[in-house]
Amino acid sequence: MRVALLGGTGAVGQRFAQLLERHPWFELTTITGKTSVGKKYGEAVNWLLGGEVPEYVRDLTVMETDMRNLKEVDLVFSALPSGEAASIEREVMRAGIPMVSNSSLLRMDPLVPLVIPEVNPDHLALLNEQRRVGSGPVATSPNCTTTILVIPLKPLNDRYGIKRINVASYQAISGAGYPGVPSYDIVDNIIPFISEEEEKVEKESKKILGRFNGKEVDQAGFEVQATCVRVPVIDGHTVAVHAEFEEEVDVDEAIRILESFDPGERIRKLPSSPEKVIVVRRERDRPQPRYDRLTGKGMSVTVGRLRRGASSNTLLFVAHGHNTIRGAAGGAILLAELMRSEGII
Ligand code: COA
Ligand code: MG
Repeated sequence: MRVALLGGTGAVGQRFAQLLERHPWFELTTITGKTSVGKKYGEAVNWLLGGEVPEYVRDLTVMETDMRNLKEVDLVFSALPSGEAASIEREVMRAGIPMVSNSSLLRMDPLVPLVIPEVNPDHLALLNEQRRVGSGPVATSPNCTTTILVIPLKPLNDRYGIKRINVASYQAISGAGYPGVPSYDIVDNIIPFISEEEEKVEKESKKILGRFNGKEVDQAGFEVQATCVRVPVIDGHTVAVHAEFEEEVDVDEAIRILESFDPGERIRKLPSSPEKVIVVRRERDRPQPRYDRLTGKGMSVTVGRLRRGASSNTLLFVAHGHNTIRGAAGGAILLAELMRSEGII
């Protein structure tokens, strides 16, 4: 499939370009931007990922982010900044061009599935509703912190039923793009505010873990409270989770549930699927960004520090995942792979 990448020069766009190199199904043929239009990608991009700009994209000319440049492609990935900056996504959806977006603009749209392939692949059935009104198929990938939180919550919710989640995040600076957070703000410091992040984590978690009723997604009924903090880490978001369940929790059983989590054959066989979605570490001081961010080529979520809370139905744990791979580009590519293997695109 010929693929276009919107906002390809940004921190997440670069990750898409890196992960799509030699992809068995997707060939990146169009990259769009704004200030770099007309330049070669290799000259325009401020490559943040180490090594060289992959050769296959170096000579692609950055195109204007405009519908005219999307006529020839079979699929669009969006790595545009969130919110109204991504308003072109509405036109893509209306025009019936298949798209997987990592932007927040359409995530909470009742017609748009918000999907983590290992968690709620059945929500893709919402695309039938899009087809009925002649748009899409457009699916979205969640916010990076939401993804890293919800993956371990999925099997725990299935077994114990979530009642309430309290989560604090420790978020890497790559999630804010480049130049992003000023060095004077983040070196020797932490910043206990990330605009709109807490709202995203709270709303998106309930949509993803909600139930598709055949026509729409009923939001999950539990409560989520988040405190999101930026920390001086380059890549990898960490979340400290206090989870309260309907049922009593046995810590050893919870560990077994997490370790044996299997998303099923149809997900496992996808090219970007990690060998293990959830990796449990038993050391008392893991996960840590520097050692755990690239587990499963950045597609696994590492969970540790599992212990019982003050009451018998609470579980405390720490989870970690790569924000621009699992939490952004890698997650979106995996979702597109699922849509392709299911014949949706
Ligand atoms: N229309 C068209 N192009 C636009 C645009 C718009 N409204 N807004 C931005 N762009 C362009 C930028 O100008 C740039 O292209 P250029 O180099 O040709 O000028 C390109 O899109 C990349 O955007 P930029 O803002 O420079 O990237 P960044 O590295 O500073 O920020 C993100 C990257 C990921 C922070 C940002 O894209 C974002 O907020 N994405 C959505 C949320 C997300 O994915 N968060 C990260 C999770 S870890
Ligand atoms: Mg920028």
